[in-house]
Amino acid sequence: MTSTIADRLLDWYDRHARSLPWRARPGDPAPDPYRVWLSEVMLQQTTVAAVKPYFAVFTGRWPDVAALAAAPEEEVMAAWAGLGYYSRARNLVKAARAVAARGGFPDTEVKLRELPGLGAYTAAAVAAIAFGRRAVVVDANVERVVARLFAIEIPLPQARKEIRAAAETITPESRAGDFAQAMMDLGATICTTRDPKCLLCPLADGCEARLRGDPARLPVKAKKKAKPVRQGRAFWIERDQAVWLVRREGKGMLGGMRALPDDGWSAQADGSGEAPLIGEWQTLGQVSHTFTHAQLALSVSRYEGIYAPPGEGEWWPLKTLGEAGLPTLFAKAARLALA
Ligand code: ADE
Ligand code: SF4
Repeated sequence: MTSTIADRLLDWYDRHARSLPWRARPGDPAPDPYRVWLSEVMLQQTTVAAVKPYFAVFTGRWPDVAALAAAPEEEVMAAWAGLGYYSRARNLVKAARAVAARGGFPDTEVKLRELPGLGAYTAAAVAAIAFGRRAVVVDANVERVVARLFAIEIPLPQARKEIRAAAETITPESRAGDFAQAMMDLGATICTTRDPKCLLCPLADGCEARLRGDPARLPVKAKKKAKPVRQGRAFWIERDQAVWLVRREGKGMLGGMRALPDDGWSAQADGSGEAPLIGEWQTLGQVSHTFTHAQLALSVSRYEGIYAPPGEGEWWPLKTLGEAGLPTLFAKAARLALA
């Protein structure tokens, strides 16, 4: 039998595709490009389970790209709160406005790539899934499956080029969108990180890593540098059942998100460089949070009384704090303050 990897994988997908809110069933007409694009942006670095409720909220509130393009950026940022990697939300708005201005999504990978805020991965995924274009779509699941199929021993991230070239050789001319999503499903359910279920795998014949034994070893990952630990202080300033919230500067960490005021997280681990607290502050404790490039320990101090906070901000009623759109770090700090 000479069926290709793509044939076997698509045949498996026809029977086992996960049913997801942004997907068409295998073989059905392609789904709405807006929903495909939105889901693919949300799914970068984020699990399907975490994305589902956000996808429902976004598509309920902004059912098409014109609606999202017309939304104020800060509303979109607030709705994104909790999903992380907030630059995605800013880029989402940028891309939505460009798409609405040109009257709809372009239908090729090259043209999609030209839109502001739309990256290489997203352009490939939308071209393949929404427009049936042959495009090579490589996310972390696909990387893992391909590294194993071809027993690519080079460590990540250096292996990216090699993996991409190998993925290119198995991507079919037709049904590239189903193929991409089949690879993702295989990676999520069968060819899993720790415990690949080769006995259930439609690609087991000819999988080089399986033949060599111990496929879970691949892909090899370069040792990560330890993340630097940063110290910071956040300020809970409360008055008349309201708390003082600010909006963070556009560019830096959590840029554009609503937040508690803080000290810029620039103190050293030994405490030097900490801003002194003047007046009646009570230290509540610490929250910690891991970002891509750093680990942050944030101590939270509370002030209650007649304090006029410096800078721009707003008194946010405590009873609707859940609607403020605080990113996870500051939601943790708020929980500490309200406990
Ligand atoms: N991860 C990224 N895109 C995905 C998709 N379309 N289906 C399932 N998981 C995904
Ligand atoms: Fe992954 Fe095993 Fe299938 Fe190879 S045979 S692709 S290692 S599940």
